[in-house]
Amino acid sequence: MKLLPIILAAGQGTRMYSQRPKVLHTIGGLPMLQHVINRCRALSTENIVVVYGHGGERVKTSIADNRLSWVQQKEQKGTGHAVDQARDLIEDDVIVIVAYGDTPLIKTETLQGLVDTLVTADLTVLTATLADPTGYGRIVRNSYGVIEAIVEEKDANPEIKKITEVNTGFIAARGKHLKQWLSQLSPNNAQGEYYLTDCIALAVAEGARVNAVLCHDVTEIKGVNNRRQQAELERAYQTRQAQKLMLAGVSLADPLRLDVRGELIVGQDVFIDINVIFIGKVSLGHNVTIESGCVISNSVIKDNAHIKAHSVLEDAVVGEDCDVGPFARLRPGAFLSAKAKVGNFVEIKKSTIGYGSKVSHLSYIGDTKMGDHVNIGAGTITCNYDGANKSKTIIGDHVFIGSDSQLIAPVTIETGATIGAGSTITKNASANELTLSRSKQQTRKGWKRPTKIQQDI
Ligand code: UD1
Ligand code: CA
Repeated sequence: MKLLPIILAAGQGTRMYSQRPKVLHTIGGLPMLQHVINRCRALSTENIVVVYGHGGERVKTSIADNRLSWVQQKEQKGTGHAVDQARDLIEDDVIVIVAYGDTPLIKTETLQGLVDTLVTADLTVLTATLADPTGYGRIVRNSYGVIEAIVEEKDANPEIKKITEVNTGFIAARGKHLKQWLSQLSPNNAQGEYYLTDCIALAVAEGARVNAVLCHDVTEIKGVNNRRQQAELERAYQTRQAQKLMLAGVSLADPLRLDVRGELIVGQDVFIDINVIFIGKVSLGHNVTIESGCVISNSVIKDNAHIKAHSVLEDAVVGEDCDVGPFARLRPGAFLSAKAKVGNFVEIKKSTIGYGSKVSHLSYIGDTKMGDHVNIGAGTITCNYDGANKSKTIIGDHVFIGSDSQLIAPVTIETGATIGAGSTITKNASANELTLSRSKQQTRKGWKRPTKIQQDI
């Protein structure tokens, strides 16, 4: 049977107090709507419908999925009205799954469960039991426990408000039935809206079978209406990531102090200390150690590498057995060959550091191609920018650069060359020679420091 997920994402999200449409607010670095789309995609569906309204174009352009059918709901007249906007796309024999764009932690298995239950029912509703059901539609059952209706908080009497089983918003039904029920909805309720939830009572009145599927993990069904709830779901999401990583063999110093805002691929025996943030796609080889306070985005870190505290890596590659940090900054295009070492207060940009080469202290290396077994002394700067253009520095194998040197690019330091400390190198340095550019040390006998002159004011 063909599935058709319809994701409702037209609401404004007034309580976020934001210029950004609610469904574009993120959890784990990804828009909430994208989470829901991804979970629906995993159901192996051909088509997914997104009903959008507020922030229309912005929502469309922010979602990276070109296989979606976008349906506009010009005025937000309720969840039933929203689904009805997609009527033309609903074939009679498909199974429609309605999901909400602001309920990002739903799992694919749970949606599948809703679909599977349709074998013995005409309409299935995902429900949950909440200690505090305030704000949710309540599931009303008859004395046999059979579902009769869903009553919204604003329409509920005190007796119904006591019910703790709530509507999560997720439902499944065959296209033909759903379209029939949708056309019978009316806005005769406290909010003057077309409630999707009224389909339940309509189905029951027709003698159709309505089944509830109880969701045990309440984080799956929680929606985001304000930033407090967003933060709560962010933590729930991060806890899930941490659990997954630990079960995959990663040691976390504290699972509550890790943030994965993207995809983290891991080898065996990885250790991650507290307060590390991973952004985008990051892969860690076997036996990698990441010390506390690191921010690592879109990078590859290979086996046995050690990233020390408070290092920031972005679009970088760190080879096997490398040592980075503490307080290192690897910017886009930093490529460290195996056994390289980048120490404290070193910035590397768009540069290759050769096998076993060391940049241990206080240096800037930009637009540089460095060979193997090079030693860069403390405070070395590649001067790659003349105010208008960037130029390259080439450093051969076995080069030794003395501390506090400036290499004015474009410049080549040939294989085995040595640069004396404190040099400003403007021309190519020859292989295996010592090159230096500094004035001879002098002593001025009898020189005195200036003394302060008394002035009358
Ligand atoms: C809805 C349910 C309620 C359930 C709760 C779970 C109805 C009538 N009520 O209430 O039973 O317990 O969700 O979170 O269905 N939307 C549109 N167009 C509209 C209105 C809403 O696209 O015209 C979208 C919103 O963007 C959101 C979703 O539908 O993604 C839910 O809307 P919301 O207004 O938050 O519904 P609730 O009042 O929370
Ligand atoms: Ca809601």
